[in-house]
Parts: sequence; C-alpha cells; structure tokens
Amino acid sequence: MKTSDLLKPASREEADLLAKLDPKRLPQHLAIIMDGNGRWAERRHLPRVAGHRAGVKAAREVIETCARLHLPCLTLYAFSLENWRRPQAEVDFLMRLLREYLKRELPSIHKNNIRLLVIGRSAQLPDAVRYDIDQAMRLTARNTGMKLVVALNYGGRAELADAFNALLDHVRSHGLSAFRADEQTISDHLYTAGLPDPDLLIRTSGEMRVSNFLLWQIAYAEIYVTETLWPDFSRVRLLEALLDFQNRERRYGGLGSGDRRRAPHGNNSDHKARG
Ligand code: FPP
Repeated sequence: MKTSDLLKPASREEADLLAKLDPKRLPQHLAIIMDGNGRWAERRHLPRVAGHRAGVKAAREVIETCARLHLPCLTLYAFSLENWRRPQAEVDFLMRLLREYLKRELPSIHKNNIRLLVIGRSAQLPDAVRYDIDQAMRLTARNTGMKLVVALNYGGRAELADAFNALLDHVRSHGLSAFRADEQTISDHLYTAGLPDPDLLIRTSGEMRVSNFLLWQIAYAEIYVTETLWPDFSRVRLLEALLDFQNRERRYGGLGSGDRRRAPHGNNSDHKARG
C-alpha cells in the first residue's frame, strides 16, 4: 500500500511528499500544540477570534489527513488550564466554537469510524460543553478507527496530580500498606491510559516550549517545531512534518545503527542500550 492510495494528492507538492512517505513508519500517536491563531489574525488586522475560526479549518484538514493515513491516534491541545486567563469573551468564543465544531463535524467523524476522546478536567467546563462532549464520546465509543483526543481544560501537571490522587485513594480504600507504583501503574492512571505515548509532537508558530502538555507521555517523543502559524498549517506542512519524523533516527537512549562511537565499557557494539 502506498500513501497516495490512502490520500488523493491535491497538488504536485503533496504528490511529491506522499511519494516519499513510508506508510509503515508513520507515528503511532501524533500530538499537536496548535499555536498562533491570535498572531495569524493580528497580521491580517482581524480580531483574534477570526484566527480561532481559521484554526478550526486547519484542525479539520489535519484530522481528515491523519484519519486517511490510518494514524492510530491524534491528540490536539485545544484549551489549557491556563487559557481561562484570557478575556472572558475569547474564552466564551472558544467554547462556542468547540460546540459548533462538534455539531457540524460529528456525523463525519462518526461515519469515518473515528473515536472521539476528551482529556482534561472536564468537570470544570460549562454544562453545555460537557453535555456535547459526553454525547460525542458516547456516539463514537465503539468506533475502531483513529482515536481523536481533544485536550480540553488540560494541564500536564494537573493530570499527574490527578493520577497520584487516584492512586492514593486506591491505596487507602484497599488498605495496601506495602503498595509501590511502577511506571506502568502511573501510565495506567493518566487520562491517556491505554493510548500509546506520542512518538511525534508538533508545535506551530515557532515557540520552543512544551507548555504543560502531556509531560509524562512525551518522554521519548520527537519534537517538531515549525514557524508556520496554526491556521496556515496545511496538509503540505503536515506531510513535511511526518517526513521529517521518518528521517530521524530514534534511539531511546541506545546507540543508533549508524553511530560508531564507543559504547560503555569499551564495547564497540552498535546497539548497546544505556537506559
Ligand atoms: C492557539 O492560538 C490556539 C488555541 C488557544 C486553541 C484553540 C484552537 C482552535 C480553535 C483550533 C480548533 C480545535 C479543534 C479541536 C476543533 P493562540 O490564541 O494561542 O495564538 P497566539 O499565541 O498567536 O495568541
């Protein structure tokens, strides 16, 4: 199977990129920090909310492309715990935009066998938003295609605190005085339990920060930062990022296959893991 069998290229540039992509080495979990909607609008002398509207269009195209390429999992950082500090009108607009998006896109998400999951402290979201996301998750719960994870009212440290507290509750309620947690136990108590860790993290608009996003899960992720502002993050930009990912050598603390440096203890083996 070639990638061009999965996705019809809309331009010569897309066709060239697709021809270079290996469909067997796509990320298992792509996570994206969508940044730059406000700057996109400012540069056009438009209100910030126009940037968010354009951002939804970009998200739609990325979701569709990832689903067609059969990526198992895509996570989008839509609203952080810190985003409540924005002007109330902008927060209200973002919540409305999300509900509008769900209303418009849910039938096509469902038809394409995509499963929608929302991670974050959803109890603090407005009732109407909670109701809509509950309905959407329920409707798509049995879908077996791509998992589309929307991080909403999400913070990485809050997620870790929630996981530790859930573990402490478990320990107290079962009187487990000798309990010890290993890495798997912690992973199993995160909002992302059961999902693979992201192997590629994309951030748009050039900032070199992880902004409290999936702190535990991105331990080994490749990071791709592009100057492109989120509303301009087209299918071509996504394919470029995927190709860049495929051209990297993932070492997980070991020595890469082309790495001829001496391994610890004078052993010149190529594949000596260092943990
Ligand atoms: C960053 O732009 C983006 C956000 C605050 C998240 C909102 C994302 C969307 C509306 C995209 C659609 C998402 C879904 C899931 C449908 P910014 O305002 O931080 O930009 P700035 O840094 O230039 O001010």
